[in-house]
Amino acid sequence: MERSLVLVKPDGVQRGLVGEVISRLEHRGLRLVASKFMSVSPDLAETHYAIHKGKPFYDGLIAYIISAPVMAMVWEGPDAIVAIRQMMGATKPTEAAPGSLRHDYALEVGRNLTHASDSVENGVSEAALWFKKEELVDWTRAVDKWVFES
Ligand code: RTP
Ligand code: MG
Repeated sequence: MERSLVLVKPDGVQRGLVGEVISRLEHRGLRLVASKFMSVSPDLAETHYAIHKGKPFYDGLIAYIISAPVMAMVWEGPDAIVAIRQMMGATKPTEAAPGSLRHDYALEVGRNLTHASDSVENGVSEAALWFKKEELVDWTRAVDKWVFES
C-alpha cells in the first residue's frame, strides 16, 4: 500500500473543484487517510517546494500556493503514486492526458489545480510534513476486498 499527499491548490479551491477531486479519488477506489482545509505558511511552502528553489518559476510557485487556502489530503492504495499522478495528468495542462484533472480543468502550468507526491518516499515524507502522526487515520472499508486484491 502506497500513500500520496494530494493538494487541491488555491485555484482548485477558489473554483469549487475540491469535491470533484475527492469524488474522482474515491471513485477510483483510493482510501482517504487524512484531510485538512488550511492556509499554507511561507515556511511550509518553502519546505514543500525546496527542490524547486532557484528555478525561474520558484517565486511564482510559492506566491501561488500561499495565495489562498488549499485542501490538503493523504490518500492510499496499491500503486497509489502512479495511479494518482495519472489522475492529475502531466504538469503542463496542455500536455495532460484527456480525462485527467489537469486536462479537464486547467490550462496553465502555474494554475494546474493539484499536487500529488512523485515517489513512494516523497509520499511518506510529504504526509509527515503536512500532517501530524495522529491526523493520519488507519482504517479499513467494508468495500476494500472488492477494490484491493490483497
Ligand atoms: P506537483 O509537484 O505540484 O504535483 O506538480 P508536478 O510534480 O507535476 O510538477 P513539478 O515539476 O514538481 O513542479 C511543481 C509545480 O511547480 C509549478 N511549475 N511551474 N512555469 C513552469 O515551468 C513550472 N514548472 C512547474 C507547477 O505548479 C507544478 O505543479
Ligand atoms: Mg512535483
